[in-house]
Amino acid sequence: MTTQAQGKDRVFIFDTTLRDGEQCPGATMTLEEKLQVAELLDEMGVDIIEAGFPIASNGDFEAVSLIAQRVKNAVVAGLARANFKDIDRAAEAVKHAKRPRVHTFISTSPVHMKWKLQLEPEKVHDLVIAQVTRARNHVEDVEWSAEDGTRTEHDFLCRCVESAIKAGATTINIPDTVGYTAPEEYFALIKMLRERVPNSDKAIFSVHCHNDLGMAVANSLAGVAAGARQIECTVNGIGERAGNAALEELVMAIKTRNDIFPYETGVESTMLMRASKLVSAVTSFPVQYNKAIVGRNAFAHESGIHQDGMLKHTQTYEIMTPESVGVKQTSLVMGKHSGRNAFRDKLKQLGYELGANEFEDAFLRFKDLADRKKHVYDEDIEALVDEEIATAQNRIRVVALTVIAGTMGPQSATLTLDIDGVHRTVQSTGNGPVDATFNAIHKLIPHEAKLALYQVHAVTEGTDAQAEVSVRLEDPEDGRSVTARAADPDTLVASAKAYIAALNKLAAKGAGRIHATAAE
Ligand code: KIV
Ligand code: ZN
Repeated sequence: MTTQAQGKDRVFIFDTTLRDGEQCPGATMTLEEKLQVAELLDEMGVDIIEAGFPIASNGDFEAVSLIAQRVKNAVVAGLARANFKDIDRAAEAVKHAKRPRVHTFISTSPVHMKWKLQLEPEKVHDLVIAQVTRARNHVEDVEWSAEDGTRTEHDFLCRCVESAIKAGATTINIPDTVGYTAPEEYFALIKMLRERVPNSDKAIFSVHCHNDLGMAVANSLAGVAAGARQIECTVNGIGERAGNAALEELVMAIKTRNDIFPYETGVESTMLMRASKLVSAVTSFPVQYNKAIVGRNAFAHESGIHQDGMLKHTQTYEIMTPESVGVKQTSLVMGKHSGRNAFRDKLKQLGYELGANEFEDAFLRFKDLADRKKHVYDEDIEALVDEEIATAQNRIRVVALTVIAGTMGPQSATLTLDIDGVHRTVQSTGNGPVDATFNAIHKLIPHEAKLALYQVHAVTEGTDAQAEVSVRLEDPEDGRSVTARAADPDTLVASAKAYIAALNKLAAKGAGRIHATAAE
């Protein structure tokens, strides 16, 4: 890779949504969802896609391997700890990629070496050489990361970095694993490494910042100012704890303030909104309304003074255009008389490409929605299609739900599910209509997963707005959780669909001890 392009330094965007992002509680994606995200990232111009942690499970291995085969342009990386089994597995998973990379890491900070690894620094240093050498036996493109790099002693860090480069690492990543550093400090650290390590010019330096103190993007840009030329980040900033540096914020900071960040990325910024929506849909993590770049309010001007200024000249309050990040003006869309072609056009405008079956299902659901809702907005269509994408592979589907609610309890729900093509109906009561609905689901699909989150919000305004429900289920066995989302004008139907979507995700992972009873 070359870091010079058209006179401006090229900064490589390394996306770890599918690895560090997927690692956070509730963000689990199915294989199909991971493939969709990887293909979109590739199309968007991301340079490196970290597709997963192949040793973690057979599912992770399969996902990395399939992504490696599908991705057309980007480098595909697989993560590995500092042992040969991990490294061999990662190399095996990425071997069919056009441009494979093995990314191997070990902790270098005193606190991690003492308590986590329980190894002396000398041993850790030996492992650095062994891990990079092993990875280089498999692939030419090897990234080495000093986990907890920002809390590592400088002399030791310099020694490890020098040895990693000598052993063949082509990228050196200095993670701020716990989101502890600040811009000036991180700038000084990267500068120090580049100046003190004798062979530092033989590798590309990389930044990887977590957002625990809200400084991940600022820290990453400070690292780049000090000479790093790869940024590790995730779409919507998802990731461990407070998340990672947000890809869309980094790309737009570089584009909008190119006077002070004179670099280039290969990312097509008009696809940022689409990527944000896809990641939000498949993880069911809502994007906060005021999130920079991709939040619902990021381009909304509410106050009279701002609106007045905007009408006179958009640059009064707008530092970048909504179009530059792929935001389209909300418009009243179609009604119940709109046909397939109009619907297809609208999907294209919103950035969706569906297969024939998915399109047909989405169209029928759109018609159904248009029958029930007076105004159908872009947001309604997006909620509908996102759900279609997220649930296309589901074994269990909601067929019908009738709920009796009100002051005369107990509330009851009659629910019909399609389980592997067989319809089954039950009735159940509960402490409120949602409880009754979830009890009915439990009767039809006995499972041990625990409800960890139930959240409702309106997709648009008005009393006929669709309700969007998020449900997170936790597998008590391994503590891992999945989140799913569904929308419907009826809050209870949306609730049932979201719960079922979460169960489908758990079932796909073989978790939560789910017993679909259709065959009984
Ligand atoms: O935050 C971190 O240190 C990581 C490494 C594995 C790169 O994610
Ligand atoms: Zn990380």
